[in-house]
Amino acid sequence: MRRTLPLLTLITVAAAACDSLFTSAPEDADVFDAPIPGLTDAEMEVFLAGDAAFEEPFSATTGLGPIFNDVACAACHSGDGRGRTSNALTRFSRGTDPARDIGGPQLQDRAINGAVPEQLPPGVDVSVRLPPPVFGVGLIEAIPVASILANVDSLDADADGISGRPSWVSAAEFVPADEVGGGAGPQLGRFSRKAQVSSVLQQTVEAYQQDMGITTDFLPVENINPQSGAATLARDRAPDPEVTASTVRAVVDYVRMLAPPAPGEATPVRTRGSDLFDQVGCDRCHVRQFRTGPSRIAALADQDVVLYSDLLLHDMGDALADNRPDGDANGREWRTTPLWGLRLAREFLNGDLFLLHDGRATTIAEAIAFHGGEAAQVRAAFDALSADDRAALIDFVASR
Ligand code: HEC
Ligand code: HEC
Repeated sequence: MRRTLPLLTLITVAAAACDSLFTSAPEDADVFDAPIPGLTDAEMEVFLAGDAAFEEPFSATTGLGPIFNDVACAACHSGDGRGRTSNALTRFSRGTDPARDIGGPQLQDRAINGAVPEQLPPGVDVSVRLPPPVFGVGLIEAIPVASILANVDSLDADADGISGRPSWVSAAEFVPADEVGGGAGPQLGRFSRKAQVSSVLQQTVEAYQQDMGITTDFLPVENINPQSGAATLARDRAPDPEVTASTVRAVVDYVRMLAPPAPGEATPVRTRGSDLFDQVGCDRCHVRQFRTGPSRIAALADQDVVLYSDLLLHDMGDALADNRPDGDANGREWRTTPLWGLRLAREFLNGDLFLLHDGRATTIAEAIAFHGGEAAQVRAAFDALSADDRAALIDFVASR
């Protein structure tokens, strides 16, 4: 953690939170959890409080479960970056059969003592979801809707085989209208693998409730296992809501204020790879850059976001289809994954790299090879490059 906060403020925060925030020195390699530059001292205090809550492991005494997937936000979002396949979520892919509509949006395969974990009903396909990095979500949120819609080509009017569709979703009722993506009426989905979530607040509250079984002021009701009847009533010992709105807000602001790591140095090979990236058409979905509009957090306003994503939905073909509609996305569509933090990803996963929605690819070349559907022509153009050019393009992507 490369914190720049004056020591005095650190001590104040630690004391105020009644918590040993920094018992050991922050580690140098903690680069996915650096704050964006230019935060005020007050914002930095929230950042630190949110950081502690993001890392806090829950137990049955503090409210974990009854059913859950993992015990802390940080358990899945390793070092605030991407997860590994072993902490991926399993969502049910039930196609259109309502009889299979049991168990909520995901399989909670762990439970506290006395409760029964969910089991996958026979015949139900799964959609495995690798945890994406959480840095940069504040920048993504601050991109004006109109800038994202400018890349929409739902009917493929320019006949390049790439359509790009916005994900229109309804916000959960607990998200107030003054939040980006909150309020009545269709909201632009930006978050999660299918852009099925329109606000960082909703993403966070549902992660507490669904992923960890933690109730909050926003969603005070426990998530129970519908398959096991009365046994699901075995409760954790903590009174609901288990986490206050102010802690949730701190975590939301914490992930908002996490800076995307800077890309690696430009080299002649990478510069060539960068040109080839545009030449074969990767940039038609992995749109290089956006600019943020206004934001309540001044440091997020009017910033360039070097995202390499259009934040739109694309049909990626049979190989990547999971047959699970999510929000507005159908069973073949995925949100273009931002290409950032790749340079450092292996450092956080003991040298491993997991790419694509379910982590099935372990190299960038493999990830490209799975691109089908709307990306088929671009993949063919990539395949037609010389081995040298392919290596340069991959080196460029790997340096993001
Ligand atoms: C069990 C593992 C797990 C836990 C615990 C977890 N997450 Fe996640 N998170 C995921 C997965 C998987 C996704 C993608 C879900 C999808 O695409 O359907 C995700 C998505 C996200 C995103 C969206 C990122 C993006 O680029 O769209 C944010 C933000 C996020 N989580 C924050 C949190 C916070 C905050 C917590 C703690 C309150 C948390 N997560 C707890 C697994 C987890
Ligand atoms: C039609 C739009 C489209 C085009 C064109 C496209 N991509 Fe993608 N890309 C996506 C989508 C959507 C995903 C997410 C797919 C998934 O997770 O199943 C993705 C995922 C990736 C990933 C995995 C990232 C991660 O963190 O998991 C890499 C790497 C990647 N693309 C590189 C490229 C390169 C290089 C090119 C050009 C040769 C390219 N893409 C062309 C839409 C596109």
